[in-house]
Amino acid sequence: MATAIGTAVVMCLRGTSRTSGRGGLVVSDSAAAVREFDRHERDRWKGRASAYEASVGALCAFTAPLVLDAAGVAAGWRVIDAGTGPGTLARLAAERGALVVALDGERGMLELARTHLASAVFCEAVLPRLPVRGGWADAAVANFVINHLGDPPAGMAEAVRVVRSGGKVAVTVWPSPPPALQRLWGEAFDAAGVTRPEGLPRVPEDRNFARTPRGVTDLLCGSGLRDVDCETITWSHRTDLESWWSGPAGGIGTLGVLMRGQPAETVAAIRREYQRLANGYLNSDGTLALPTAALLAVGTVP
Ligand SMILES: C[S@@+](CC[C@H](N)C(=O)[O-])C[C@H]1O[C@@H](n2cnc3c(N)ncnc32)[C@H](O)[C@@H]1O
Repeated sequence: MATAIGTAVVMCLRGTSRTSGRGGLVVSDSAAAVREFDRHERDRWKGRASAYEASVGALCAFTAPLVLDAAGVAAGWRVIDAGTGPGTLARLAAERGALVVALDGERGMLELARTHLASAVFCEAVLPRLPVRGGWADAAVANFVINHLGDPPAGMAEAVRVVRSGGKVAVTVWPSPPPALQRLWGEAFDAAGVTRPEGLPRVPEDRNFARTPRGVTDLLCGSGLRDVDCETITWSHRTDLESWWSGPAGGIGTLGVLMRGQPAETVAAIRREYQRLANGYLNSDGTLALPTAALLAVGTVP
């Protein structure tokens, strides 16, 4: 399918095959690990759009306007939102008067995003392949997406390819070591005595990056971006016990997948431990304030 957007044409293609980027084609072992990781990611997002939006989606929404500010998104700009999910950034960019192409590898996410925003072009596409003409966009943004790629440098290289010279690429990732919010579910599983699965697909060492300001800066510089800046954003995520629990209960993340395979009494034990640990973050009005942080990085295309 080809979709005309102004003078540009976005070819909506299916699937992905070529894996290139910093250092050229990846070697076979690494390429196999990348494929395995990406397959695993495709599976874990399938059918999870609503559960994601109600839990982690609300968390990720915090950085959405900050990412657009970092990229300088303004009226008339052509913006690519890669891994749009429920379309939070796409909607905000459209409200700024930008022309938005929202892409995601999970069809359910695109269907959900469409319900929030009519004025964007939605396209099913799997990074590191974006069906967009080189240099078409003024900015490419990816809010908590490159941490879901088997080959992050290839994903970054593709984001750089589709942006014009002088345009911006802005991304966010969760930092390591993880802040309290990111640790909470895992601590509840551990306290409930649930053994974490071993041998889950991992990003191969030669394609991975450190989840630190230095690591993310190096990733962006390695993709050819100039004037790279990475800052740590900290905030308290306001939610409530049920909304935050709905993440793993809805199968979100590795722990959500793990919970789905547990017997009812184990799920009840995880829930009890979750509630006990979450009590430490409860406000007097019954809401939760979970301390969290994100790395926000931006660079300019040469
Ligand atoms: C953590 S969510 C972030 C969604 C959205 N950017 C937000 O801020 O809420 C990650 C999103 O990236 C998508 N995704 C993961 N890997 C992808 C890939 N290789 N290509 C395209 N989309 C991908 C998932 O389907 C999901 O919608």
